[in-house]
Amino acid sequence: MNILLIGSGGREHALAWKIAQSPLLDTLFISPGNGGMESCGTIINLDVTDHRAVIQFAKDNNVELVVIGPEAPLVAGLANDLSVANIPCFGPTKEAAILEGSKGFTKDICKDYNIPTAKYARFTDANSAKDYVSKEGAPIVIKADGLAAGKGVIMAETEKDALSAIDEIFGGSFGDAGAEVVIEETLYGEEASFFVLTDGKTCLPLVTAQDHKRVFDGDKGPNTGGMGAYSPAPIMTDELIAQTMRDIIEPTVRAMNDKGTPYKGVLYAGLMLTEKDGVKTPQLIEYNARFGDPECQVLMMRMKSDIIPALLAVANGTLETVDLEWSENPALTVVMATKGYPDSYEKGSEIKGLEKADELDNCQVFHAGTKKEDGKIKAIGGRVLNVTGVGATIAEAQNNAYKAIDVIEWEDGFCRRDIGWRALKG
Ligand code: AMP
Ligand code: GLY
Repeated sequence: MNILLIGSGGREHALAWKIAQSPLLDTLFISPGNGGMESCGTIINLDVTDHRAVIQFAKDNNVELVVIGPEAPLVAGLANDLSVANIPCFGPTKEAAILEGSKGFTKDICKDYNIPTAKYARFTDANSAKDYVSKEGAPIVIKADGLAAGKGVIMAETEKDALSAIDEIFGGSFGDAGAEVVIEETLYGEEASFFVLTDGKTCLPLVTAQDHKRVFDGDKGPNTGGMGAYSPAPIMTDELIAQTMRDIIEPTVRAMNDKGTPYKGVLYAGLMLTEKDGVKTPQLIEYNARFGDPECQVLMMRMKSDIIPALLAVANGTLETVDLEWSENPALTVVMATKGYPDSYEKGSEIKGLEKADELDNCQVFHAGTKKEDGKIKAIGGRVLNVTGVGATIAEAQNNAYKAIDVIEWEDGFCRRDIGWRALKG
């Protein structure tokens, strides 16, 4: 069969790499792709905001499944339009992707279905938001309601910071995403990323993972899209997984059905494992309507089953027939980013040594912000490479990832040297 994959990140490179291994695949079309994905399929350049053009391409090329990687086309309703055109799609409709598209919507579901989450309030004007901050005090978390490319969350340590965050959001710094503000109590604990596939009826949990949000070693510096990840996350015990399914995921899927907007796709719950009297409880921080990036890279490295039947079953509503097999071996990915990220950075520097990394065992380099130009790989984004190792233990996977990093020559790049530290602290 022919498949069209939408996206250009490390997440999509990992999905493409996995899809390309399936004996069910004829051609994988990838739009817009990146500098590393041509080995997985045929790169094309569609305007993903032009849904009619995407549908026309799919029809002209006998595409039997469209896989949507990032959130923006989901929230824009690409899955809706593909469904009208009878083209199977992996990814939720815009009415379901609102779980990521509106933090306030998700918080209301949590309230109505008793899903554990931080105490919150929603505001459409600055004065009432500020009154609430004065009443609650700091530290407090101020969020733009809509999609803000991972930048719309301000962890305010003081009331002053909280008030200026409110002004910033309502002042238009996040465009339409800031028409509403959600204010939350600060939760404390360890975070974990939890993924399920769901067709709206069956929920199939994937293996667990943990991300590293901060830019520098020791979890210092500003938040990023994620600087590295590993799977499994040892903190997610079987009991915590069962609790997350029962108390968070299943009620959410039920809520979306009750609203008449069933969720079909991968549902990514960002969890905070809060602790009271030595007992950990998963609390929902937020939902995403897509795979995590870079968590997807470690999940794909560990997935032993063919991914295509699972993606199709989500699209066609037959997920109860699917069982996924995973490698016991952990995987760990380290993000190499351009110096300056997550703030401003230069584009266009050359990366060398990738062929040496490819020759190493137990390692896979996924590209994110790269492009191929005159046979050279150039960095054109913030997060640029995801160097991924596997091994019998997390320490071995980490070692294999850093071995590959050490043969990559890229003056303008940097990475954290401590990815996996929580799992390795013993
Ligand atoms: P989000 O974009 O909502 O995932 O938030 C980004 C990051 O901000 C999360 O991964 C957490 O590290 C942090 N965060 C968001 N909400 C809270 C909260 N209520 N308490 C503590 N940390 C939070
Ligand atoms: N790694 C975090 C995210 O994908 O949102």
